[in-house]
Amino acid sequence: MSSLKRRLTTVLLAGASFAALAGVAVQADSMPPEESLSNLEYDLLGRDALWSYHALDSMSQAPFLDELVAAGKLPPLEERVPAEPLVFYTDAMSDGIGEYGGLFRHVIGGRPEGFNWLAGQHQGWGGINMALQECLVRNGPLWQVKAEDQSGPLPNLAKSWEWNDERTELTFHLVEGIRWSDGDPFDTEDIAFWWDDNVQDVNVASRMAPDGLGTGTTMTVIDPYTFRFNFTSPQGPSRVGNLAYINGCPGPSHILKDKHPKYNSEATYESYRKALPADQLPIATLGGWVPVIHKTDEIVIMRRNPYYWKFDEEGQQLPYINEMHFKLTTWDDRTTQAVAGTGDFSNMENPGNYVEALKQSQSPDAPIKAQFGPRVLSWRVELNLSETKGVEDEIDANLRQLFRNLDFRIALNHALDRDAIGQSVARGPFSYPFPGGFSSGSPYYDAASTVYYPYDAAKAAEMLDALGLEDTDGNGTRNFADGGPDVEIDMLYQANRTEDRKQIDAVTSMLAEVGIRVLPKVVDDLGTVARGGTYNSLLRRQQWVTPQREPCLQIPLDTQCPDFHQADDEGNRELFPFETEMVDAWNVINTTWDPVEAADAAKIIQHAWTENAYTIGLIQVPAALLINKRIKNAHPGTPVFMFEWAEDAVVRERLWTPADEQIEELLPGTIAEY
Ligand code: GLA
Repeated sequence: MSSLKRRLTTVLLAGASFAALAGVAVQADSMPPEESLSNLEYDLLGRDALWSYHALDSMSQAPFLDELVAAGKLPPLEERVPAEPLVFYTDAMSDGIGEYGGLFRHVIGGRPEGFNWLAGQHQGWGGINMALQECLVRNGPLWQVKAEDQSGPLPNLAKSWEWNDERTELTFHLVEGIRWSDGDPFDTEDIAFWWDDNVQDVNVASRMAPDGLGTGTTMTVIDPYTFRFNFTSPQGPSRVGNLAYINGCPGPSHILKDKHPKYNSEATYESYRKALPADQLPIATLGGWVPVIHKTDEIVIMRRNPYYWKFDEEGQQLPYINEMHFKLTTWDDRTTQAVAGTGDFSNMENPGNYVEALKQSQSPDAPIKAQFGPRVLSWRVELNLSETKGVEDEIDANLRQLFRNLDFRIALNHALDRDAIGQSVARGPFSYPFPGGFSSGSPYYDAASTVYYPYDAAKAAEMLDALGLEDTDGNGTRNFADGGPDVEIDMLYQANRTEDRKQIDAVTSMLAEVGIRVLPKVVDDLGTVARGGTYNSLLRRQQWVTPQREPCLQIPLDTQCPDFHQADDEGNRELFPFETEMVDAWNVINTTWDPVEAADAAKIIQHAWTENAYTIGLIQVPAALLINKRIKNAHPGTPVFMFEWAEDAVVRERLWTPADEQIEELLPGTIAEY
């Protein structure tokens, strides 16, 4: 029996008495009963029933593109697209073949940082990144696939892949004939640039870490459409899922190479990162739409990409929708505008608005319908566990030592009344305690493997006393041992997230009750600051639902992750044994071909994470997807977040609106001009 399996057996035999396993005198419970609010119902399909790649008897395009071709402004369709493009099956569309035209209105709270996603820049989230980036494989629509067909991601830029017998070599085949939106061919030159000069270059903060596909993994280009990964040990289908959004998305090498320090002696890594500024449009994309206008704090407008390489079964080039807007306001406003009918889409993830939004969506003439999924959104406090990264003075150093103490982390758990935190965010049945690890809506979540440290302020105080943290100066805040300074924890949170603000208020007052002072610090772009790894603590929504999705946000797969436990600039980092145990289990998930073994490995992660209070979990809530009723093919049941966010899961390239319900475009008849 492998040691992992043995460990799991121990875990399972131990059943509810995890406290005994923990080896510390703490009170641990099993999770309280959970009441689901999900009302999602849908038919699942085979993985091959969604789309395939083949030649079409005839091809056609949005009528205004015919005019541009006739005017000599665009090459004919056949010269712009693959001979065997991606073809979406009509049977897998809830409303079938669509009509061209119209506008889709997103509202987002983020702001584009810039367009060099290869260097780790984001474009403002809320579906804008995903509208212009396309990735080797795709996870989002997997929610539509039957359990027995869940054998890794769906094809996308890579139409197929195969393993050698030893499963140490993985060969990918790109769709032949895809072009960037400026007409340049997409091929393995782009793959080599992505992998060699971004992922593997430690000076580039690429979303995928150098070891993101496993330590020692190499990539070789075979020909313009074929490339191969070589692994140092056998791998499984989940490994391929690491190449979906946001890790496996190539960028335009024909534009970026010249701006990279390796190829341009005048460039620096800083200038490279900023090589595609947010206000210099258009840029070249592989996505369905191309950003053409960005007005700061107002809007990003995208127009259809005439080189898009996806079609419907009647041979109509996608997307159906001509123009896409991203109004730049707030995340709360996204829900408000969807409910009011001035926005077309919202991942309703702000529980404070749920009751009102639900009430309004009941009326028959409401522009949207709200459907709840399982609890997949979870909030947590991340305490920086590095002894040295970003440590500038003795205060930082003391805090980090404290954070590395398990009893301290458990004491913080006991100090938090998660029911009260939930009610402070939204009254009603929405919230459920979050212990850390996988969200309860994850297929990989296992309540029996979860260690829960319930609210018990007296216990928290007792544990803090035992750590020698006493209020020696009588000011109400505990002091570090031997008459040291007050225990004050600076905690970052994101400015434009109402739920985060409410939770930091609740956490601050609950920790004050046990003599720990939190100093909340608001930041504009928490994700980017967090990636720097230099903060002491932060509070944010950060969920883990499928193990292969952005694992670097969760466990130490590489020296630069997770954010809250990075190696310092000299490479120093003292991992805890349980962190190594989680990475080992994650590697099992990536190497096994047996779904039961993968599920068992996830239980090991869940147990190690929660037993060791790796992060301080707060609450988890369900989310509901709101889509305007005039939008067709928005499958009822699309989860807000499962394999990926709903913006990917809903497959926007096949959404459409009947001509008589289309909203007027701001830039009709135009495409990006280079
Ligand atoms: C933000 C939003 C999510 C989702 C993602 C997509 O995080 O809060 O609801 O739209 O962006 O990247």
